[in-house]
Amino acid sequence: MKNIVVLISGQGSNLQALIDACQQGRIAANIMAVFSNKAQAYGLQRAKEAGIATHTLDAKTFADREAFDSALAQAIDQYQPDLLVLAGYMRILSNAFVQHYQGRMLNIHPSLLPKYPGLHTHRQAIDNGDSEHGTSVHFVTEQLDGGPVILQAKVPIFQDDEEDDVIERVQTQEHTIYPLVVNWFIEGRLAMRDNAAWLDGKRLPLQGYAAD
Ligand code: GRF
Repeated sequence: MKNIVVLISGQGSNLQALIDACQQGRIAANIMAVFSNKAQAYGLQRAKEAGIATHTLDAKTFADREAFDSALAQAIDQYQPDLLVLAGYMRILSNAFVQHYQGRMLNIHPSLLPKYPGLHTHRQAIDNGDSEHGTSVHFVTEQLDGGPVILQAKVPIFQDDEEDDVIERVQTQEHTIYPLVVNWFIEGRLAMRDNAAWLDGKRLPLQGYAAD
């Protein structure tokens, strides 16, 4: 069995989707540990309920980002992860950390990348009058939310939508596509090469697999 380590900062609904997929055999791997930079992250409870080891690292107790990330990587590597999964992990990563896990670190971002990297994506999509929004699973590179996209899911934005409506619609899609992509990686079907994502030996287009 392959090993997965998950990083979170908050609710952990994507973590829950991954836990469920592992328990149901849709991902043939073990989630060995969950790390959070926030002690109160609800996702830590979800991990504990599933019998998964949890760790919290508090950024305030480290001199700088490099020191924090170095301690984090050291702790993560105790679990010998084949894959590191960012699931709502809300901290900028140092270049050294990204390089260490290059090609074996995934993130999920709530927008149709390359549109709306960074924060408040749903708000921006609504304010710009977009008729659709979505989510992207991508490999993590040094460019924030800029690594090769693997899979996206689109959702409609309706005229009287509040931000929460769009967030909920996007998250529902996230809980389907993230376990799917994680399983592709675990099965050895997915890789990052030449700053592109490859699935079953085929280079994926910029919007990832099945763009439409
Ligand atoms: C998700 O919407 C994800 O796209 C973003 O942060 C959110 C995390 O939600 N990176 P949760 O903690 O998995 O519920």
